[in-house]
Amino acid sequence: MIDRETVDKIFDAIDIVDVVQDFVTLKKRGVNYLGLCPFHNEKTPSFTVSPSKGIFKCFGCGKGGNAVTFIMEQESLSYYEALKFLAKKYHIEIIEKELTSEDVEKKNQIESSIIVTSYAQKYFTENLLNTEEGKNVGLSYFRERGFREPIINKFQLGFCLNKKDAFTNEAIHKGYKVEYLESTGLTIKKEDRVFDRFNDRIIFPIHNLMGRTIAFGGRTLRTDKKIAKYLNSPESEIYHKSKVLYGIFFAKKEISKKNKCYLVEGYTDVLSMHQSGIENVVASSGTSLTTDQIRLIKRFTDNVTIIYDGDSAGVKASLRGIDLVLEQGMNVKVLLLPPDQDPDSFAQSHSSSELIEYIEKNEKDFVIFKTKLLLDDAKNDPVKKANLIRDIVKSISVIPEKITRSVYVKECSSLLDIDEQALYSELNKIIFKKYKSYDKTYKPKETQTSSQKQNVYSKDNCEVLEREIIKLIINYGNVEMLSNEDESVEEKTVTVAQYIIGEIQLNELDLVNPLYKKIFEEYKSHIGDEISIDSKYFINHPDSAVSNLAADLLSSSYELSRIWEMHNNSVETEEDKLNLIIPEIITSYKNQKIMSALKSTEDLLKIAQKENDIGKMNELQQRYIALSKFKIALAKNLGERTIL
Ligand code: CTP
Ligand code: MN
Repeated sequence: MIDRETVDKIFDAIDIVDVVQDFVTLKKRGVNYLGLCPFHNEKTPSFTVSPSKGIFKCFGCGKGGNAVTFIMEQESLSYYEALKFLAKKYHIEIIEKELTSEDVEKKNQIESSIIVTSYAQKYFTENLLNTEEGKNVGLSYFRERGFREPIINKFQLGFCLNKKDAFTNEAIHKGYKVEYLESTGLTIKKEDRVFDRFNDRIIFPIHNLMGRTIAFGGRTLRTDKKIAKYLNSPESEIYHKSKVLYGIFFAKKEISKKNKCYLVEGYTDVLSMHQSGIENVVASSGTSLTTDQIRLIKRFTDNVTIIYDGDSAGVKASLRGIDLVLEQGMNVKVLLLPPDQDPDSFAQSHSSSELIEYIEKNEKDFVIFKTKLLLDDAKNDPVKKANLIRDIVKSISVIPEKITRSVYVKECSSLLDIDEQALYSELNKIIFKKYKSYDKTYKPKETQTSSQKQNVYSKDNCEVLEREIIKLIINYGNVEMLSNEDESVEEKTVTVAQYIIGEIQLNELDLVNPLYKKIFEEYKSHIGDEISIDSKYFINHPDSAVSNLAADLLSSSYELSRIWEMHNNSVETEEDKLNLIIPEIITSYKNQKIMSALKSTEDLLKIAQKENDIGKMNELQQRYIALSKFKIALAKNLGERTIL
């Protein structure tokens, strides 16, 4: 942990232009700097750096953030590591936070465990390369399978001798504690005796993001069906299977560079593809992907291609799991290899250019692929087809981007030969269900077909206004504005943040979007602090979702909403703008909220009428009337103008 003071010192020292210039050639353009984006391939520069705001933004690929996020992206580092990187650049001494004795204990355990696993890795490698048994059994096996020296060395492959407890005894002799040998799973203790877990197996060390060995996979070379082909390290202080991907350390740079990640099943698939020159590849190690693993990939790219063996049985089994990847907003493709081939055998039997060509030609968009696959299965069976539609729509419903969803609806409608409208209604049902459990006041509506007008009072519109509100808070939170609610009293000044937060609290409005809500609440909790927080606080926020959004909102502060534009000609100063626009946006937001509350009351009323529930009807009618009154009062405020 780095203490807060040092973090502040680092942030104070950072000059974003200076930081970025270490990697990108920048030219001055007005107040900003412009260059070629390091995160995607481009010929004309769309990567801008704003020294005054301390942020960068690429208008080509959308990446943006502060100097720390830049280093995180560029150097594939964690937040903490990036801070250290920058501290070094600016010669700031890192003072690690005082650790509690519990912290120390935990840290020691982690460090001791890693010391043990790195020792084991070196021991196994030494056995593979420099013992007779290792050379004859292990090394010759790797060679037979086509793995050459550079790949064996790079991945630090090894061998555990067939000598029951040779490794454990040697380790104990060298002074490593049995406690850690056991907790990392290298040693199995039975009563008073110790055994090597990986006895008589070839060894694949598993590395964390920083390249430290944290676990092992061991493959037997025996064909005896009773022996498990692979044995893996158990969960430990340092190894959390669900958070690790095999090969990520060796792949991360290339994943960023190629803006794409290949996902395969096994250790040998990763090795063979690497050997073929395709380095942006990781393995899920035979299990279905977890959200943590997907997020790990998402740190480096939004594009994943999952490579499957030739038999499609495995494919169908894994379809459901892929929804998790879609849910993270990633673009998922799938690639089927020819029958009886896996990535390992395919890469070994083809040249790297053949491999690349095959991938490029045959990878297919996941949703489309799934649709076709299931359609093949359903043929003309109407029941199967109905299930299939539900299944596909479910996949589409988890995609966070509305535009992406509508593209898929269009494509699937033609593939399935089904009216778009029908797909939308199925989609609405699923999304509605989700929101109902999330916020009962909302009844979101998808855009129907493109010809139909979008429902103006949708949840999405609430979010548009919320974004605007957050933008104002982050950009102008501490600027003073007039609050003339009660016209008879003299005008009071409040800050933009105080005004907005006051209004939202007074009306008990609840922000829909969880991220906006988080920022809002956090801002609120700092109101009244001695030093008020500002845009820098959010730009430098440790939660990257927050800091990215803040960067986004800052860089788009001059493309404000339509309301802003409407006044552009008539209003002179920034302050005037704020005095005029903020109350309008708040009023629009209230209006949106009321309209959706009205709509949902109306819907509930219909149900109550159907069920002839008089009590409920009465209650809902009362509520409807109260809301309508509110709406009329607001409309006066808004004048004739249509809102957003
Ligand atoms: N796996 C495992 N435990 C098993 C079997 C498999 O952990 N008992 C994991 C391993 O990570 C393995 C992956 O699942 O790499 C894929 O399994 P499989 O296709 O059977 O192994 P391969 O990697 O193809 O290994 P090989 O080519 O040596 O048979
Ligand atoms: Mn294999």
